[in-house]
Amino acid sequence: MGEVERWKREAAEAAVELVRPGMVLGLGHGSTARYALLKIAELLRAGKLWDIKGVPCSKKVAEEAEALGIPLTTLEEHPELDLTIDGADEIDPKLNVIKGGGGAMLREKIVAQATKFEVIVADATKLSPRLGTKAAVPVEVLPFGWRTQLRFLQSLGAKVKLRVDPDGSPFLTDQGNYVLDCFFGPIEDLEGLARELGLRAGILGHGLFLGLVDEVFVAGPSGLRRLGR
Ligand code: A5P
Repeated sequence: MGEVERWKREAAEAAVELVRPGMVLGLGHGSTARYALLKIAELLRAGKLWDIKGVPCSKKVAEEAEALGIPLTTLEEHPELDLTIDGADEIDPKLNVIKGGGGAMLREKIVAQATKFEVIVADATKLSPRLGTKAAVPVEVLPFGWRTQLRFLQSLGAKVKLRVDPDGSPFLTDQGNYVLDCFFGPIEDLEGLARELGLRAGILGHGLFLGLVDEVFVAGPSGLRRLGR
């Protein structure tokens, strides 16, 4: 296992220490959040954790959690969650983040907005002075009229790429929509951009998570750090 992989696991496993019996959890998507899933399953098997349920942020996480024996539930049954552990692609000093490298940002944001405590787990390479410096902002768009959204996003200053699968066909989200990856470079007005994206018909979600994160567990060369708001 390489060092970045070890940092991911260290951050995720440390965050799992927040999980208590009886909690309803949001289960994030991505390679870092997966380490949290594995740890939760290990604690359940060892009898060190019990009576928890999870709401998966994607179909893939639902399959993995089921295979690991983690009991699942839905936001219909539990519209309020106790704790969510999720990953991120870029994290700024105010704990605003970009998410959606795995394409699950719409469900992840619904879950983040339904949770009492949102925790991000990441390796230190994800830290950034200003969002947009490292990661593209993924934007989920309805396939109907998607090229008009591409032009709209370009007009906001982004270099835009339709996300594709290895065979070249458009990547589809769990909702059957397309993802446009928007490279803005360092973003000066995050709220303004989020507002513009939120007002546009055909844009169903995006990866800017502003003011939604309560704590970040980040591991890197200088060890594990917990960043709070
Ligand atoms: C999934 O859509 C994403 O939001 C991920 O949580 C994010 O891309 C981080 O993924 P990794 O932990 O795999 O880097």
